[in-house]
Amino acid sequence: MTTRTWQNPLRDPRDKRLPRIAGPCGLVIFGVTGDLSRKKLMPAIYDLANRGLLPPGFSLVGFARRDWADEDFGQVVHDAVKEHARTPFRQEVWDRLAEGCRFVQGSFDDDQAFDNLAKCIKDLDDERGTAGNHGFYLSIPPAAFTKVIQQLARTGLADQKADEWRRVVIEKPFGHDLASAKQLNKTVNDVFPEDSVFRIDHYLGKETVQNIMAIRFANQLFEPIWNANYVDHVQITMAEDIGLGGRAGYYDGIGAARDVIQNHLLQLLALTAMEEPVSFRPETVRAEKAKVLAATRPVLPFAETTARGQYSGGWQGGQKVPGLVQEGGFAKDSKTETYAAIELAVDTRRWAGVPFYLRTGKRLGRRVTEIAVVFKRAPHLPFDDTSTEELGQNALVFRVQPDEGVTMRFGSKVPGSTMEVRDVNMDFSYGHSFTESSPEAYERLILDVLLGEPSLFPKNDEVELSWEILDPILKAWTTHGKPDPYPAGTWGPESADQMLARTGRHWRRP
Ligand code: BG6
Repeated sequence: MTTRTWQNPLRDPRDKRLPRIAGPCGLVIFGVTGDLSRKKLMPAIYDLANRGLLPPGFSLVGFARRDWADEDFGQVVHDAVKEHARTPFRQEVWDRLAEGCRFVQGSFDDDQAFDNLAKCIKDLDDERGTAGNHGFYLSIPPAAFTKVIQQLARTGLADQKADEWRRVVIEKPFGHDLASAKQLNKTVNDVFPEDSVFRIDHYLGKETVQNIMAIRFANQLFEPIWNANYVDHVQITMAEDIGLGGRAGYYDGIGAARDVIQNHLLQLLALTAMEEPVSFRPETVRAEKAKVLAATRPVLPFAETTARGQYSGGWQGGQKVPGLVQEGGFAKDSKTETYAAIELAVDTRRWAGVPFYLRTGKRLGRRVTEIAVVFKRAPHLPFDDTSTEELGQNALVFRVQPDEGVTMRFGSKVPGSTMEVRDVNMDFSYGHSFTESSPEAYERLILDVLLGEPSLFPKNDEVELSWEILDPILKAWTTHGKPDPYPAGTWGPESADQMLARTGRHWRRP
């Protein structure tokens, strides 16, 4: 029997099928000469314009030390768009965007430059109708955050008048430990109310990451088995094949755990382990994530439940590549870890006793990010032992990238006259199931900033809870030993394999 639901003949103005177009506004980017801005932010803004999601008078202001005129900046944006945009280049879209490009020259401690910025923004409101709505994107080193926030406060740029908005967008790293994150939250929240602060974790902008919630909460199939009764453990992997050449300034002394576990991987854990939110309103989703992070803790002793490594020279993709300490800018005795693996426990009824293993590394076998929920073995197997020699554990794998989709792994009979059961995969691939290509994470996130949609941005408490989880491990690592070497192109140090082998488990080889 089919049930028919009543269709409201009047369209809901918040109908999700309608395009979400930002109202009148502008965006200022600090750190506009950096890599992130050129490779991700400017192209994403163009892609949004190309998809018709930006308002007609949208304006993009670059702020940097270079001695550029508006036209020079326009040319830089143009080149970045041509090289990196996802959608095709269309002259008429570009011409419209170019009309709104402005550049303000100055350093962060230059009061005059910020006064000029305030004047520029006022002029944009008058000339292009940006209506007092402006975002400030801090794509700058963390040491400069405080200064810029203070300048925005001093010049009144952070003040929101009625019917106008001012929002600040902050790139990671959001602090380097709990104390510094708290200090930074205070600095930011003294000037901008929390609902005007957008902390970027670009993993949350990825389609495949948002799909974790869709798969978990839109289906009947998975939720009943999403708990300690059925799940043996969870593995969250973010492996990269690239090295750190050219990134010493940012990475040396930071390391893999601070770079991606504190943010991307703990957010993936939160989405995998959280309870169902009562709605998809931002405050309820964020509250559920915060709850599960508050229940998450590292497992002792760290010598057995964590591993860290540093890549040495090796071969990757048929090419000889240097070790970390041979890369320019890294100290010869650098102790920075380029690989980190940790075990976490989630102290809730749902997850009691289920280890969550998180690992990440540079110069590993291949680039892949996935979350594998690995299930317990069936309690009884009515087969001869020889029939199930090739049978592993069932798993549901969210393939975040690069081959986006979901895999279900289970046992199946091998065709033939004997009963032999072997693991097989059932795959869902975005490329096969959907014709639309996924927007870039930054497209989604920048649009959400302009729309004032904070769901996909970690709140201050989530950031602090994540540091609380990681701090004890980082402290132990600083005081004991150094990272174990692993050759480039492999899957990390032996200590990482031993970490799981102790419990009879092993890392997946994606
Ligand atoms: C960044 C890290 O946040 O994410 C980088 O700082 C890392 O070290 C990058 O390379 C990976 O992003 P993606 O989207 O390519 O997986």
